[in-house]
Amino acid sequence: MATTAIDVQNFIRLSDEELDARIEAAKEALGDRLVILGHHYQREEVFKHADFSGDSLKLSRQAAASNAEFIVFCGVHFMAEVADILSSDEQVSILPDLSAGCSMADMADLAHVERAWQELSEVLDPDETVTPVTYINSAADLKAFCGRHGGIVCTSTNAPHVLKWSFGQREKILFFPDQHLGRNTGYNMDIPLDEMVVWDYDQPMGGLTPEQIKKAKMILWKGFCSVHQMFKPEHIERFKEKYPEARIISHPESSFEVCQASDYVGSTEYIIKTIADSEPGTRWLVGTELNLVNRLNEQFKAEGKNVHFMSPTVCMCSTMFRIDPQHLLWTLENLVEGRVVNQIKVDKTEAEQAKLALERMLEVSP
Ligand code: 13P
Ligand code: SF4
Repeated sequence: MATTAIDVQNFIRLSDEELDARIEAAKEALGDRLVILGHHYQREEVFKHADFSGDSLKLSRQAAASNAEFIVFCGVHFMAEVADILSSDEQVSILPDLSAGCSMADMADLAHVERAWQELSEVLDPDETVTPVTYINSAADLKAFCGRHGGIVCTSTNAPHVLKWSFGQREKILFFPDQHLGRNTGYNMDIPLDEMVVWDYDQPMGGLTPEQIKKAKMILWKGFCSVHQMFKPEHIERFKEKYPEARIISHPESSFEVCQASDYVGSTEYIIKTIADSEPGTRWLVGTELNLVNRLNEQFKAEGKNVHFMSPTVCMCSTMFRIDPQHLLWTLENLVEGRVVNQIKVDKTEAEQAKLALERMLEVSP
């Protein structure tokens, strides 16, 4: 067994065919010791090697159900953390490129959330009146914060169920890091816009007055997804002028205005299912990441469906794109040689507390 890790630079010059063949050979050598999970936003060259694909909720469940020794996550950092938290101590969660983070997740950190909790306590008793809800797109220590404070995790699929549960616990919600998912979900639950305030984490008291905080049902962290913020209502208007019969579908990380102008709003898994179930010949404008939209267009063109990307400019998730076939092969060939590279390991206490919040989520999920 070799002791020095194979250098990823060795893979840069390999042809696509060679990369594919060696990835498949490594998968075969590892057999059921390995499972590769792939998020829908992964590029095609990587996505095709995944054993299971899905949205964040489906992949979390897959990670929890897997018995594989190695869970290689083709996605972003928080997903590999969730896989580590929900799998057993003997299993190893791996992210092929450690720079695959999530810019939205980085918009909330523990220090700022702890400070917000402290500042809220000057106006009310947050542990009695506020349920902290973190979008799964967040670091493990924020999930642990929610676990410690009677809170919960949500994904774009289960956000309405999670909010319903949260309001059943306490009268208000502090929702981080994505203001849009919080606002879009809250509005659909009949919470007026003026009872959803934005917490600006760069300002004392989130930039809010005590009256605003007392009146609010939801306090929304000022975070957003850099990909979904590119979609604008005018893109929808222009498309509708050209194709009045087109159907519009968006991910709830898009702005309130975009979601209001859409016919359908939901997670990546929901978007795929809705387009798959539509009649042949339909035309779709889709507000979500480019790799998924291109895949849907390819997949359904034989049924006469046309699937268009919402923004006129190319905007893919640059961090998801970090996972390339070179890094996947590098990861797998190191495993074949008995070396674990890029393991994602969450601190034990943090993992226990985060698991509480994740388990609450899995319990209330549809
Ligand atoms: P879902 O696939 O859960 O809808 O989430 C999209 C996303 O942004 C993942 O980071
Ligand atoms: Fe994060 Fe947005 Fe990329 Fe999803 S699409 S991983 S929310 S930056």
